[in-house]
Amino acid sequence: METIQTDVVIVGAGGAGLRAAIALAEADPALRVALVSKVYPMRSHTCAAEGGAAGVIKSDDSLDHHFNDTVGGGDWLSDQDAVEYFIREAPKELIQLEHWGCPWSREANGSVAVRPFGGMKKQRTWFAADKSGFHILHTLFQTSLQFASIRRFDEYYATELLLDEGRCVGLTAIEMRSGQMRRFDARAVIIAGGGAGRMFPFTTNGAIKTGDGMALAYRAGAPLKDMEFVQYHPTGLPSTGTLLTEACRGEGGVLLNKNGRRFLQDYGMGPETPVGKPVLKTMELGPRDRVSQAFWQEQKKGNMIPTQWGDAMLLDLRHLGEKMIDERLPLVRDMSISYMGVDPVKDPVPVRPVVHYMMGGIHTDLRAATTVPGLYAAGECACVSINGANRLGSNSLTELLVFGRRAALSAIEYLQSGVRAASDGVLAARAAAAQGRIRELMQRTGGGETVAGVRKEMMQAMEQHAGIYRSGEGLAAACAKLSELRGRYSRIELHDKTNVYNTDLLQALELGSMLDCAEAVTQSALARRESRGAHQRLDFIERDDQNFLRHTMASYHPSEPPRIGYRDVVITTSQPGVRDYSGGHE
Ligand code: FUM
Repeated sequence: METIQTDVVIVGAGGAGLRAAIALAEADPALRVALVSKVYPMRSHTCAAEGGAAGVIKSDDSLDHHFNDTVGGGDWLSDQDAVEYFIREAPKELIQLEHWGCPWSREANGSVAVRPFGGMKKQRTWFAADKSGFHILHTLFQTSLQFASIRRFDEYYATELLLDEGRCVGLTAIEMRSGQMRRFDARAVIIAGGGAGRMFPFTTNGAIKTGDGMALAYRAGAPLKDMEFVQYHPTGLPSTGTLLTEACRGEGGVLLNKNGRRFLQDYGMGPETPVGKPVLKTMELGPRDRVSQAFWQEQKKGNMIPTQWGDAMLLDLRHLGEKMIDERLPLVRDMSISYMGVDPVKDPVPVRPVVHYMMGGIHTDLRAATTVPGLYAAGECACVSINGANRLGSNSLTELLVFGRRAALSAIEYLQSGVRAASDGVLAARAAAAQGRIRELMQRTGGGETVAGVRKEMMQAMEQHAGIYRSGEGLAAACAKLSELRGRYSRIELHDKTNVYNTDLLQALELGSMLDCAEAVTQSALARRESRGAHQRLDFIERDDQNFLRHTMASYHPSEPPRIGYRDVVITTSQPGVRDYSGGHE
């Protein structure tokens, strides 16, 4: 097997992976960095982010405001030491991007513009029209090209982490164009593989977001934390699930039910304010969990509008005018026309909530370190616990910068502690075993199960039982279904047994990752008998700080459901309180 000698391997070349790679290369040009990604970096899902990245920059804002918005928005499940670090580093990272050439939108006086975002009581979301993720990713990618020490392995799928005496010492990956397995020897590994929204059928997430990074770490012994917290974004296109950014509402767009009523006023999100007034924007800028829950409640009342893709509400941008829409929301206009046949300049666009983001992920500490020595994680695949039970929109782009860099710095500290590479014999044996598992999957016959069949049933179970509102009965049914599917997964047969770009094999591996993540979601949700943030139980409708002001920790077991444990939340200054969104934005 061909072996690649490196010091640090990064899995994932989206925002977090690229930021980590740059930090490693800047800190020590002699470090050999391998960037392994199943897609070309500019196809990473960071590219799809639209609305912007949060960081305090304006004089009426403060770090305290950002802290309080984030912790309250997260329903007090955030680790407050992590939030403190995050909000302090956030503006530095956004200014760093500016210096690397990110074309942030500007105020008339030339300073960086910010826009309001959901659950943020001050304006602090930096943006580049409604293509912020694209421009951030592009900026990071072009910056990474300056460093000769960053070696890219595009279209490589990482299959397993290699462990030696409990330390992470590399990984195996399939080079997709040849189908050959490669061994990456390393002294530290950073996972930056993104989220797992594709376990649900209706999501803003691109097809690549299948939880591979989470599953790699989980199977290697790193627990997945707070996986029950799955974020719905209130405004996806009903036809495709494509995101219509929260910036639509940040810029003044309103949400209407079938009676033309701005229904969020009925759900504790502030009094109705005149449409088109730029200053007080209350209801539509409630946090995503509350806004999505209001859609669900309105549906029960029969207040949604039937469309050929299911029930929807209307997002009305017409009062913003064509000039403003073209300047600030050009992608929204394009996509509404392309995918719905609706021009938001002329008509309201139908929208509905859609799975968008995982608050949970690989448990890391403040240093982005997992519990496995030598293994770090950052970005959506990680749970450093700044987002708690509900992430505020625009915190995640900043998070991947702050903790991508932090993971790199921690990996360097670890290398400097004198850690040695594993012996060739150990690595060869582990890699051969990993290769054997892929061969067995490719050669398997007679099992009769298909990737598409198992995947479809997984998605149905998740949609039906692990959505905006859940119940113990439904979650138990989902757990049982997933355990059945896990058995059936071991009997799937590939139709394509060839080597070159074998997408049948890749989809089978991705399905394995999603099943592991889905089980962690449903088992964690079943065990959390309270309602908090994005986890709403119809059978336990109150938040229960007595019993559940703690993180859920799901630990992997190869043949059984995950073991569920708990971990205390870190509280520094903000005691749990009432989330109040009736007062409006400034
Ligand atoms: O609506 C949006 O633009 C999404 C932003 C985010 O998830 O942070």
